[in-house]
Amino acid sequence: MNKKSILCIGAGYVGGPTMAMIAAKCPEYKVTVADINARRIAGWNSDELPIFEPGLKELVEKSRGRNLFFTTDVEKGIRESHIIFVSVNTPTKTFGSGAGKAADLQFWEKSARLIAEQSEDDKIVVEKSTLPVRAAEAIHRILQSNVKGLNFSVLSNPEFLAEGTAVADLENPDRVLIGSMVSPEGKEALEELVELYAHWVPRERIITTNVWSSEMSKLVANAMLAQRISSMNSISALCEKTGADISEVSHAVGLDKRVGSRFLRAGVGFGGSCFKKDILNLVYLCETFNLHEVAAYWEQVVLMNEYQERRFAERIVKNMFNTISGKRIAVFGFSFKADTGDTRESPAIYVSRLLLNEQAELAIYDPKALENAKIDLADVQAKVEFCSDPYEAVRGAHAIALITDWKEFAAYDYEKIFSLMEKPAFVFDGRNILDHDRLFKLGFNVFPLGKAEKTHFE
Ligand code: NAD
Ligand code: UGA
Repeated sequence: MNKKSILCIGAGYVGGPTMAMIAAKCPEYKVTVADINARRIAGWNSDELPIFEPGLKELVEKSRGRNLFFTTDVEKGIRESHIIFVSVNTPTKTFGSGAGKAADLQFWEKSARLIAEQSEDDKIVVEKSTLPVRAAEAIHRILQSNVKGLNFSVLSNPEFLAEGTAVADLENPDRVLIGSMVSPEGKEALEELVELYAHWVPRERIITTNVWSSEMSKLVANAMLAQRISSMNSISALCEKTGADISEVSHAVGLDKRVGSRFLRAGVGFGGSCFKKDILNLVYLCETFNLHEVAAYWEQVVLMNEYQERRFAERIVKNMFNTISGKRIAVFGFSFKADTGDTRESPAIYVSRLLLNEQAELAIYDPKALENAKIDLADVQAKVEFCSDPYEAVRGAHAIALITDWKEFAAYDYEKIFSLMEKPAFVFDGRNILDHDRLFKLGFNVFPLGKAEKTHFE
């Protein structure tokens, strides 16, 4: 078997882009991405990729059909590859013990069993999915239980890319982290993976640890990033009460090099498929080891996020004279952040549902996420209009609720928008990306997040 052959099980937001980058940077490797979802694979093989990510189409087209292949034949992929990345989803468990917190590892376990069953020679198995600490131990046991006497090395190589900047993050990562077992085979496998990344990542940025540290670091990295956001979001509530301005506070605080300026933007709450799930995973782990104070500390990051989402939605109701029943509200943005069509755990879902519960009529616009929004709100579609034009969304609306930080929202013609809206017209800027002074001058009642409101009322 060709040793320079890679399989990735799972062609999602991580598997697809990561393998496209490896294929582009390591032309002597054959890279196959396999998924049981035939629609997704058909998408990867077409001009309409299944996920939107700036620069991804060009990256995929560079190697697809040359040394990058997308297939539903997972079994064949296993037999023909030496290094197997597993990048399947690891959502929060919704049933049984640990429901609501622990990671659901069923997709991972199925993959591990299939690898054990289909393999005809020794393999390197790489944890690319985010997993609980010590998952590698269980995976190794499953793999080694094969009756063919084969040897499997398990490495942990968590992914740190962020959606919307995935290609840039993969091309120029802050670090690549690889955790390995202490055995000689473990060290050999580690060297092979280091060699692979060294094709384009400077050696000093490829760091190696034991497997447990690697698994733990991924959970902690996400928890720390989310914690910074929750910290600033908590202060945004205080700013609204005191006349301080959250943007000024975060700028002043972030200039301290020890704190750093990034990930201090207060907003309507963090979304995305991972922050909440990974923190809950950490919380569950702490609880398992009876570290209840530690668990409570991290759980608060998630609770603060829920508070922020609720606070944003309730502020809309309260300031629109305590009723939004029958009022049209234009929702600007549905994806969980700009430059992605992904709506998993988007604050837009919670906010929209709360507004609908108050009997508002929603007109939702998003440049990339409308199809996902339709799925997320499938059960309440009757009161929702999905608009492909923002100016259509604001026609006859009493308010704009800005939820996603798409750049284009700041570039719209707000004079025209004001003329299309009911009066008094409100703007609730959940990301502080609009020019609030200008909007106020145009006649809007403006409610930025974490700073004083500007209204035309007495
Ligand atoms: P995803 O849901 O987009 O993709 C997972 C894919 O795995 C799906 O297409 C699914 O069909 C496939 N799959 C599931 N079981 C399978 C099986 N038995 N055989 C073949 N395919 C199977 O998920 P994602 O966002 O790519 O995340 C994958 C992992 O990476 C998760 O553990 C996540 O926490 C982690 N992660 C995600 C991101 C991100 O930005 N999305 C970043 C870093 C890490
Ligand atoms: C995040 C991490 O940044 C990645 O390193 C990690 O690999 C990934 O999770 C993962 O494990 O899935 P992602 O969720 O794609 O990436 O996007 P982020 O840029 O981290 O944004 C997450 C959420 O936080 C978004 O809703 C964003 O709008 C919000 N955010 C971000 C803020 O509210 N304020 C900020 O200052 C930064």
